[in-house]
Amino acid sequence: RIVYVNGEYLPEAEARVSVFDRGFLMADGVYEVTSVLDGKLVDFAGHTQRLARSLAELGIENPMGAEEWLAVHRELVARNALTEGMVYLQVTRGNPGDRDFAFPDPAVTKPTVVLFTQSKPGLADNPAAKAGMKVISIPDIRWGRRDIKTVQLLYPSMGKMMAKAAGVDDAWLVEDGFVTEGTSNNVYIVKGGRIVTRPLSNDILHGITRAALLRYAAEAQLTVEERPFTVDEAKAADEAFFTSASAFVMPVVEIDGAKVGTGAPGPVATRLREIYLDESR
Ligand code: PDD
Repeated sequence: RIVYVNGEYLPEAEARVSVFDRGFLMADGVYEVTSVLDGKLVDFAGHTQRLARSLAELGIENPMGAEEWLAVHRELVARNALTEGMVYLQVTRGNPGDRDFAFPDPAVTKPTVVLFTQSKPGLADNPAAKAGMKVISIPDIRWGRRDIKTVQLLYPSMGKMMAKAAGVDDAWLVEDGFVTEGTSNNVYIVKGGRIVTRPLSNDILHGITRAALLRYAAEAQLTVEERPFTVDEAKAADEAFFTSASAFVMPVVEIDGAKVGTGAPGPVATRLREIYLDESR
């Protein structure tokens, strides 16, 4: 693979980042994942806007404007001949040359920028979307600024491992009795034809796919209620699904061993996945 590091396109074996980089030592950085379908970036504007917001919230200088980010993404997609998959982008506070809790002077320490591609043939035509996914619920013990897309992904990784140990695909996170989101996705249920999803706040990541989905749902005259829901409500729902840049719209057919609806992907999730893929190509 050809990767991008601080202005250079390099074979991955030649790419270097300092051991003192604050992304490495402190998880002091943010990221974005943009999917690529038929060689085209999906929902790209949303990703650069959220990147700018995450950086601003942490006081990290945005190293590029939206046009430059787009150019780098396109160049990397072209150099890797990527047709279907993802572009991963990470910006950290950079390398101050030593370990220190205090932020370095931004006039001296510049952010570190890394991008790489991941080829995923079958991302759109994913058999998991036909079967539906199974999830468990686990406590949400993450920090209180989940709206910032930081690289601090230890608990989401642990959640995926808990799901794997339980023989299922993913975990839904629960706080004060209500589902916040999935380990790496936003979650929804459908009851009586109404789509229910948690409103935006600092408790969840403001998904770019979520924003697109709500737009498409409105265009399709589907009713969306933005309110928190419980695990019990989800188990008793007609349908459940989640959204993310890498999974698009993914039906959920089992929660904590209980079948959701018929136990097969429902019509609303299936239709929204089709709409999302059509609109993204
Ligand atoms: N994850 N919630 C969390 C905690 C996430 O990590 C993600 C994305 C989402 C969905 O956001 P979007 O629709 O913008 O992808 C929600 C990415 C895909 C990842 O970590 O790989």
